[in-house]
Amino acid sequence: MSGIKIVGTGLGVPNRVVTNADIANLVDTNEGWIVSRTGISTRRHLSAGETILSCTLQAARAALAQAGVRPEEIGTCLVATLTPDMLVPSAACMVQKELGLAHDAVCFDLNAACTGFLFALHTTECLLKSSRKKFGLVIGAENLSRITDWADRSTCILFGDGAGAAVVEWREDFPSIEAVLGCHGDDRVLRVPGVETGVRSLISMEGTHVFKFAIQAVPYCVDEVLRRCSLAPEDVDFFVFHQANERIIDAAAKRYNIPPEKVYKNIQNYGNTSAASIPLVLAELQTQGRIHPGDRVLVVGFGGGLTWGGALVEFAERTPL
Ligand code: UT7
Repeated sequence: MSGIKIVGTGLGVPNRVVTNADIANLVDTNEGWIVSRTGISTRRHLSAGETILSCTLQAARAALAQAGVRPEEIGTCLVATLTPDMLVPSAACMVQKELGLAHDAVCFDLNAACTGFLFALHTTECLLKSSRKKFGLVIGAENLSRITDWADRSTCILFGDGAGAAVVEWREDFPSIEAVLGCHGDDRVLRVPGVETGVRSLISMEGTHVFKFAIQAVPYCVDEVLRRCSLAPEDVDFFVFHQANERIIDAAAKRYNIPPEKVYKNIQNYGNTSAASIPLVLAELQTQGRIHPGDRVLVVGFGGGLTWGGALVEFAERTPL
């Protein structure tokens, strides 16, 4: 046995709140459609003076403070993002610079779209195990307003900016998070062109196709994680789903008969923040004192790629050095 547990979380979101009415001033849409089809009421967008790095640093500092871990104790720093401020240096290297992480900390960015935080969590567990380092910083951060197509009403209503972070501790006697990860290699239904393609780097999505994929991917991940951990749905204390659409979350809750108090949603406030969505939920849950050491949290993500992932995450008090 060996694995990681979360010992601290933090979030950093932009100050500017964008309402559905604000978006209805840009495209042909309305409050009723957006709320009923997505569950989103507001989202946060970066404005002048803010960068996604500043949100990332705010989230990381809060997570370190809550964990009581010093920056120099961090052995790995992974930032899951598809929208870093800069391609080089990576966002993770900028976190290393700004927070003063050790020179031998392994720092890099990772892109698995909306499943990125789960890919980063699993990679961190592997890296900490192989290096015998104790603490990892796992961050999801996105500036999606920058790559939003403001002429496309089916997508521009969805996305928000922000960052969430978790400090994890690796120990021999902690269980593995038993991550289930995969992808379909689909380049059709959800795309953001890169810098060399000659096409503007904006999100395009066939929403209904992605919705159908998500409706299948979520139970697959839940079932696989439960099977690997030899648990039943009622053994799980909290379910955290990627905040892409309230209807996808509600469908999963209905399928597994999960009581509302075991499912947390903040999509109404932040919209879809891709890789930041899961750590934003984890940070709010911990701040509100709703997750306690030993609680089992089943986390599921899905998104572009098409990628999917699930894991069983536990929180712990930090072990004194
Ligand atoms: O995070 C990565 C993973 N992403 C996801 O999981 C997203 C999954 N997909 C979705 O959440 C949903 O597909 C959307 C919210 C994106 C779209 O909802 P939908 O129920 O699938 O709508 P639709 O695209 O099938 O469109 C239904 C109707 C269409 O009108 P007609 O053809 O029926 O007359 C659209 O033109 O709704 C219309 N529509 C809108 N109407 C008002 C599309 N967008 C809007 C809008 N306001 N913003």
